[in-house]
Amino acid sequence: MSKRKNKVGIVGTGAVGASIAFQLTIQGTCDEILLMDINKKKAESEALDLTHCIEYLDRKVKICAGDYSECSDLDIIVITAALPLLPGQTRLDMMEGAANIIKSIVPPIMESGFKGHFVLITNPVDIMSYYTYKLSGLPKSHVIGTGTALDSARLKNFLAELVGVDTSSVQAYTIGEHGDSQMIPWSNVMVGGKSFYDILEDNKERFADVNLDQILTDVKQAGWEIVKGKGTTNYGIAATTCAIVKAILNDEDKVFPVSTLLEGEYGENGIYTGVPAIINANGVKEIVEIRLTEEEKNAFHKSAEVMKEYIEKLC
Ligand code: LAC
Repeated sequence: MSKRKNKVGIVGTGAVGASIAFQLTIQGTCDEILLMDINKKKAESEALDLTHCIEYLDRKVKICAGDYSECSDLDIIVITAALPLLPGQTRLDMMEGAANIIKSIVPPIMESGFKGHFVLITNPVDIMSYYTYKLSGLPKSHVIGTGTALDSARLKNFLAELVGVDTSSVQAYTIGEHGDSQMIPWSNVMVGGKSFYDILEDNKERFADVNLDQILTDVKQAGWEIVKGKGTTNYGIAATTCAIVKAILNDEDKVFPVSTLLEGEYGENGIYTGVPAIINANGVKEIVEIRLTEEEKNAFHKSAEVMKEYIEKLC
């Protein structure tokens, strides 16, 4: 019996792309992986190295290097390609260089006949997701940015440690830009089914030093702290991406805060930004509109304004 094979492409085989390929391989997420890079030798070497894992894994995975003309039957293409981050740059400062890269990648992939899903990592990810949506002509549900999924994982780590529970017992998101203007809708944060605000209220002494603004700052800074030490982040974003890819391939209906096109949701129109969304084989099946307080709405709209400003600069 032959079964249709799941195929995932990765554009860019630097630290991020290679880590995603490794995660997909060791987790047995898909049947085939196609690695693409302007440095063909790098893509070929990563493919060969990953192929040597297979003997010690539970599932056979075929890993090849190739180019954009081979994308027609891929289910998902993850775009990681980026210029190196310069000291002091914000993600938004990377926009022009990133847009040139996206412009060199998406049209030739579409020419191959690709009809699958794009998952964007290239920063500034919200703007690059919007740009990919525009350039590709694919439905909005098929172009997803990793958005604030990694920031939310970082937030859950902080809160889990603070309260002394595992991360899966924490429900918390950051929403808005994957960058400096993101915000935390604290009124929706729950730990073990209890509102985080109530936990603070009921345990005043224990949490006397907790400063919510500082937690947001720490979440936003987390990536940069890693970049200072090793020049890039790769494992966290790789695990995040792998979980999104799995949710699409396995039709999971799982909720992630991803970057998706808002068309009236949260009172915003025509921008990609991080909000919780149900992900399944159709990509973004539905945006989850969590209730925000007035203060939270204002913070979210401020972030949305930043996205609008940069989209205008791009177009
Ligand atoms: C980070 C990169 C992916 O936050 O933007 O780690």
